[in-house]
Amino acid sequence: MQRKTFGTTGIETTILGLGGMPLSIQGRPDRSEGIRVVHAALDAGMRLIDTADVYCLDDDDIGHNEALITEALASWSGDASEVLLCTKGGLTRPDGAWRTEGNAAHLKAACDRSLKALGVEQIAVYQFHAPDSDVPFAESIGALKDLRDAGKVAHVGLSNVSRAELDEANEIVPIVSVQNRCNPYDLRSFESGVVDRCEELGLAFLPYSPVGGGSGKGRVAEDPTLIDVGRAHDASPFEVALAWLLTTSDAMFPIPGASKVRSAESSARAADLELTEADVRRLDAHHGFRR
Ligand SMILES: NC(=O)c1ccc[n+]([C@@H]2O[C@H](COP(=O)([O-])OP(=O)(O)OC[C@H]3O[C@@H](n4cnc5c(N)ncnc54)[C@H](OP(=O)(O)O)[C@@H]3O)[C@@H](O)[C@H]2O)c1
Repeated sequence: MQRKTFGTTGIETTILGLGGMPLSIQGRPDRSEGIRVVHAALDAGMRLIDTADVYCLDDDDIGHNEALITEALASWSGDASEVLLCTKGGLTRPDGAWRTEGNAAHLKAACDRSLKALGVEQIAVYQFHAPDSDVPFAESIGALKDLRDAGKVAHVGLSNVSRAELDEANEIVPIVSVQNRCNPYDLRSFESGVVDRCEELGLAFLPYSPVGGGSGKGRVAEDPTLIDVGRAHDASPFEVALAWLLTTSDAMFPIPGASKVRSAESSARAADLELTEADVRRLDAHHGFRR
């Protein structure tokens, strides 16, 4: 699988990685199947994994996905040191709900828990999961700066942010990546200039829910244009959607989720799918995307 440098980190990783969320939230597979999915992604060439402390069922289950990925990396036959593992802090899961919790004390305690769950002394990329409207943004980002200064975090990323928030955060601590929802039916990060800004600054952009997420994946599966373009390449509509996303910007690192081995293997194939110029033009027009 093709590789490129992840933002300004200097770290080479694959152009597409595995999103860990479906392995740990409601409807998750059992643990051994979850580990098989991670191994399948790695065996297929992925060297980038996205996780978060809150990929779990509820507050009593925090760290489920981080621990699962750690176990899978330890039991994998390949060289796990090649894998760039990105995690996040800044949310909680009271009774299974998703809540922002961006105060400095929470972020620092969450980072310590993630270090333990991942079994490392330093987190490669620590992403602030989402701005908290009850906490000044600068306080949250200041906590990430402190974590970086303390050596607990090598690089800082953001998630669910606007272009203005990216610029504000970058004044406080160097940011290496942005992770926002982005897929053929959700082009807001292009329209708002976030992806352009990542390109300008040389940052990585991680489109999350790149095939629409748990609720939107059916739309990809049934999209006649994606199906038709895929036919000529013997590729599924999911693979076409991911391959198209990769053509939209050099900053792109899609992180498709999977709870099934075949989904992970299919997503890995997407990274090697070469769409023709005519395919790309057709898909741009279909999705209303302007380059
Ligand atoms: N920062 C945030 O706020 C945030 C929010 C949401 C997600 N994320 C991150 O982004 C990752 C991806 O998002 P997501 O998991 O919500 O949605 P997604 O990547 O759009 O995937 C949703 C579902 O689509 C199916 N799928 C994916 N690739 C496929 C393929 N090639 N062929 C067939 N089916 C495929 C999988 O189904 P099966 O389960 O049946 O395999 C997967 O569970 C997450 O895992 C997580 O790491 C971040």
